[in-house]
Amino acid sequence: MRVLVSLWAGRAALAGAVGLPLVAAILVVLGHSSAAAAVAYLSLSCLGALVFLKSRWLAREIRRGVPNPGSTLRTVRQQLRALELGQSDAREALASQAVLADRNVRALQLRFDAQRASLERLAQEADEYRTMRELLVPGAFDLPPSGGWALTTPTIVHMVHHVLEDPSVQTVVELGSGVSTLWLALAMRKRGTGHIHSFDHEEKYAAITRANVARFGVEEYVTVHTSPLVPCVIEGREYLWYDVSSLPAYLTVDLLFVDGPPEDTGTDARFPALPQLAPRLAPGAWVVLDDTIRAGERAILARWQTDPSLRLGAGQQPLGKSTLVIVEE
Ligand SMILES: C[S@@+](CC[C@H](N)C(=O)[O-])C[C@H]1O[C@@H](n2cnc3c(N)ncnc32)[C@H](O)[C@@H]1O
Repeated sequence: MRVLVSLWAGRAALAGAVGLPLVAAILVVLGHSSAAAAVAYLSLSCLGALVFLKSRWLAREIRRGVPNPGSTLRTVRQQLRALELGQSDAREALASQAVLADRNVRALQLRFDAQRASLERLAQEADEYRTMRELLVPGAFDLPPSGGWALTTPTIVHMVHHVLEDPSVQTVVELGSGVSTLWLALAMRKRGTGHIHSFDHEEKYAAITRANVARFGVEEYVTVHTSPLVPCVIEGREYLWYDVSSLPAYLTVDLLFVDGPPEDTGTDARFPALPQLAPRLAPGAWVVLDDTIRAGERAILARWQTDPSLRLGAGQQPLGKSTLVIVEE
């Protein structure tokens, strides 16, 4: 309504400002000078009104065109705040990503170090194996493989060096025959003395061991006993263990290698080895228990070492997947 009124007032003022000077001129020509003066005055008033209305209209248009500085500032501030929040969210997300990335890099580095160490160990073991083979059977490349069911390189290498370096190691008893029997026999041949009594509960594997021993011409250093597992009672508990009655009664054992019976023949299958053979072990004899990477074998070792009647020292030396313990002097 206000707009309509001001529109009409504007038109009337315009008409007055343009038309009334004409009327004043006519009145002057007709000799009515005082009336002409009054009309001229009215015309000036219309002009004034026109200017006033136009200026108000212009001011309104300007106001409409230019945004309210107060609310604009508020909007800008809100947008800035939102930007800041967004930025700090992004910063936090970036920081947690960086922590995660750092953790992943460190985990990768540890895995990489472990892999490298294991590769270096493998290379060193391969080297030791080659050296031992060249020492005992130069140029032979048809040796039965170790690992798997057989003992691993660090165990072979340590036992072979022990036989080669310590002439007092004359009698070896081995529970579970195989490649280990052959290597120990080769070490004895190199040295020229000693004997291994190897027990196997399965004729099939005993025969394979005998054949390997014969192939390398070291039969005189080895007796493979096919020895069924028979019940034996230790501290009120029954086990199935080798019948070792074929072992000559006068023998003192300098190295006992416990690599059988296999775990599927009974719980704690290898436990009887020490209670049965401890009275025959020489002071300072080596006892090597294989597969101590298994919890069951580690528990057997712990039981042996806590029984003073078995005379084992407290120390343990890991040899690959076996552990060496020594009988007290
Ligand atoms: C761990 S193995 C003895 C390995 C042996 N001391 C060596 O280092 O070569 C223990 C017993 O498992 C049996 N055995 C050997 N090779 C086997 C195979 N490939 N599969 C199943 N039993 C096996 C034999 O009766 C052996 O006496």
